[in-house]
Amino acid sequence: MVAANWKMNGTLVTIRPLLKKIIDEKQAGIRAEIAICPPFVYLDEISRQLDATGIFLGAQNLSQHESGAYTGEVSAKMLRDYNCRYVIVGHSERRTLYGETDELVANKFACAVAGGLTPILCIGEYLEEREAGDTESVIARQLDTVIDKSGISAFANAVIAYEPVWAIGTGKTATPEQAEEIHAFIRLRLARHDDKVADTIRIVYGGSIKAINAEELFTMADIDGGLVGGASLNADDFLTICHAAR
Ligand code: PGA
Repeated sequence: MVAANWKMNGTLVTIRPLLKKIIDEKQAGIRAEIAICPPFVYLDEISRQLDATGIFLGAQNLSQHESGAYTGEVSAKMLRDYNCRYVIVGHSERRTLYGETDELVANKFACAVAGGLTPILCIGEYLEEREAGDTESVIARQLDTVIDKSGISAFANAVIAYEPVWAIGTGKTATPEQAEEIHAFIRLRLARHDDKVADTIRIVYGGSIKAINAEELFTMADIDGGLVGGASLNADDFLTICHAAR
């Protein structure tokens, strides 16, 4: 699976041709599952364009509440109204810039599942944490908070994105071996609770995936695809990454 996280980029003028190229190429034969996660305001238009294309729609965030007086927030049910299948939960930019704690992320994950969405749960360590040898304990903490809240069965319909914070938007990709080590750790951690969930869940990598490094990442045993930021804004780069995920 390859998911595009467009973040807060683009306008209708730029995303229309980008989307058209992706749809055309998917229909010409890309085997990997593709998901597009645009800004909220474009969900309506993109939902209609993706109809019957085999490409899935995702949102970049959702509220931890079902409904109510939460100005500026968007609920899981609203996202379902626009045919979102996926929603990114706990992206490091949300955690860092908007103060999303492990508990808040766990609540959002629960709301996504309850609302019929498939969460793409982002977890990952800061550079200082990696250098201090704390990567595994950080990943375990982020994961366990969600498991404690929603139970392992909720992961039967979830995707995990391992996104080392030091690799996001920095051009500094984790090596395939570095990424694989943590993906395998995540799978093992899930297997403590449920072997089948651990075996079948998709664990994707994110952090400066590019056309030139996607293939070597995707050949690793526990890397099931990618969450792509910067490179998803360029149709040729993104499609090369999608082809690499065969
Ligand atoms: P990047 O972003 O590919 O630009 O590093 C990935 C992400 O934030 O999901």
